[in-house]
Amino acid sequence: MRKPFVAGNWKMNTDSHSSVELAKRIATDSCEVAGHRVTVAVCPPFVYLQTVAKTLSASSIGVGAQDIYYESKGAFTGEVSAAMLKDIGCTYVLCGHSERRHVIGETDELINKKVAAAISGGLLPILCVGELLSERKTLQTEEVVKRQRKKGLAGWSEEKVSAVTIAYEPVWAIGTGLTATPQQAQEVQALIRKLLEQMYDGKLSQEIRILYGGSVKPDNAAELMAQEDVDGLLVGGASLNADDFLAIIRAAV
Ligand code: 13P
Repeated sequence: MRKPFVAGNWKMNTDSHSSVELAKRIATDSCEVAGHRVTVAVCPPFVYLQTVAKTLSASSIGVGAQDIYYESKGAFTGEVSAAMLKDIGCTYVLCGHSERRHVIGETDELINKKVAAAISGGLLPILCVGELLSERKTLQTEEVVKRQRKKGLAGWSEEKVSAVTIAYEPVWAIGTGLTATPQQAQEVQALIRKLLEQMYDGKLSQEIRILYGGSVKPDNAAELMAQEDVDGLLVGGASLNADDFLAIIRAAV
């Protein structure tokens, strides 16, 4: 039985005041909404991670970074290491989010190094995969997701891979209001689980949580969560509104 996992990706939003206010609201109300039946995390921008982590320190809500660099320290201007993220109270880190792949230009190889750095630095990576609309239209979804998952986790033993959560986020559904249907999400997520089964033992592939992300809202969260291989939700826009995010957590119970 996989425990549901709802994570909010705040992207490049909020400020020093609103990030703390949002975190406080979620901390106060999420326990009432879900108790400990759902794993909940938020991923604020780097500059607010520490204050949000402090705000949430007495709660069960985890804090994640939206990115990481793979070197541990040194002359890498602008970058942030796993040790730094651990130091300020992060538990999770997003790796290979589609905006980093397609806006910033990150490759599968770079993302693999980031997943590796996260795992060896004691963080829990959330590896994001997903196809572009053009790739879906040309029936390449399976190939793209296979490649991203395989390269993202290349070189990692079963023991290490058990730290990973996978998020399926079809690029055409992110921030567009176009959610994948529950069937589309289930189809790809069942495929991801099958791929995990082929690479690792059956037990591990049954344990790894696979989240869906892309225009998740309070009114579509429950039907997405009802799918067998949808173990949680990675929420962008709706995670910036405490009421919406709490409603999504409620739908995941
Ligand atoms: P939206 O929920 O705004 O579509 O964003 C999804 C996402 O990219 C979460 O990582």
